[in-house]
Amino acid sequence: MVQMAVIDEEIPAIDYFSLFSGDPVQRSKALDCLSTACEHYGFFNLVNHGVPDGVIEGALSGIADFFEQTSVEEKSKYKKGDPKARILWDARSHSGENREHLKLLARPTFHCPPNPPSFREALGEYERRVHEVSLGLGRAMSLILGQEESYIENAFNLESGFNVAAMNRYPPNFQSKGTMGLAEHTDPGFIISLVQNMDGGLQILTHQGQWINVHIPPNTILIQLGDQLELLTNGKYKSHIHRVLVDTYKVERISIGILHGPSIDEFVAPGPEFINGNHPLAYRGITYSNALEANDRYEIEVQSCIDQLR
Ligand code: SIN
Ligand code: FE2
Repeated sequence: MVQMAVIDEEIPAIDYFSLFSGDPVQRSKALDCLSTACEHYGFFNLVNHGVPDGVIEGALSGIADFFEQTSVEEKSKYKKGDPKARILWDARSHSGENREHLKLLARPTFHCPPNPPSFREALGEYERRVHEVSLGLGRAMSLILGQEESYIENAFNLESGFNVAAMNRYPPNFQSKGTMGLAEHTDPGFIISLVQNMDGGLQILTHQGQWINVHIPPNTILIQLGDQLELLTNGKYKSHIHRVLVDTYKVERISIGILHGPSIDEFVAPGPEFINGNHPLAYRGITYSNALEANDRYEIEVQSCIDQLR
């Protein structure tokens, strides 16, 4: 049971297209907003991102159909255990969590259960679109960090980025307040994009140590900064602890998180640009594969993926 007070707080909204506007005043205003959001929050709602509503809705209903229509026997083929797994499924109504989840390796090669057939196509299309958006955000963030536009793309080798799609179904809950859907954690990666079928449930622990309810308006994409961005920037940008509570739901909640990762064997360390007298080196470098292996939420068999890529 979770007892600490949680407040409702509006989080920054970033207009994606304004970040690339031909109007220098509009562009510089949008970049300033992005800079404040990254430095003082670590997460923001992305609007005007160009991913069509229908593409987001298609992916959400595709994963809902997978959870709903696939038999437990079929889903169990994707349970942890296969050393070559690129797709993992599990349902937890124990270990303090109430959710069913499917994780898959979406990039550099896209893996997806074949049924229902519309799911694969819808998720693939959504991932392609949101991946493009993540590359654009990488360029904009490089600029506000005072670097060349290609800085983040090169530092993470995003051209061969390793993206994991992590999808959840949280069952309706009519009874106990404070029931945990997904326990506290931070996410690996450059950034994490998140869409959901209904508002509510996600909570983030802010810089100030306050839990807040995160409201994501329809067809908006929540962006959270990932662990590897914190590492690269030597802590200038921070990855936040978050969790999901299921105490207000009368209907099931579905979410799709894409972890936009560096290349799997990229060694990420704090950039020398972010180390100085006021900000001494604060992190040890690590390859993305080792970071994922150390994070037991991302159990996708990393080593066999690396072998496959070589
Ligand atoms: C996650 O943090 O991985 C999922 C969050 C959510 O379901 O909103
Ligand atoms: Fe997460």
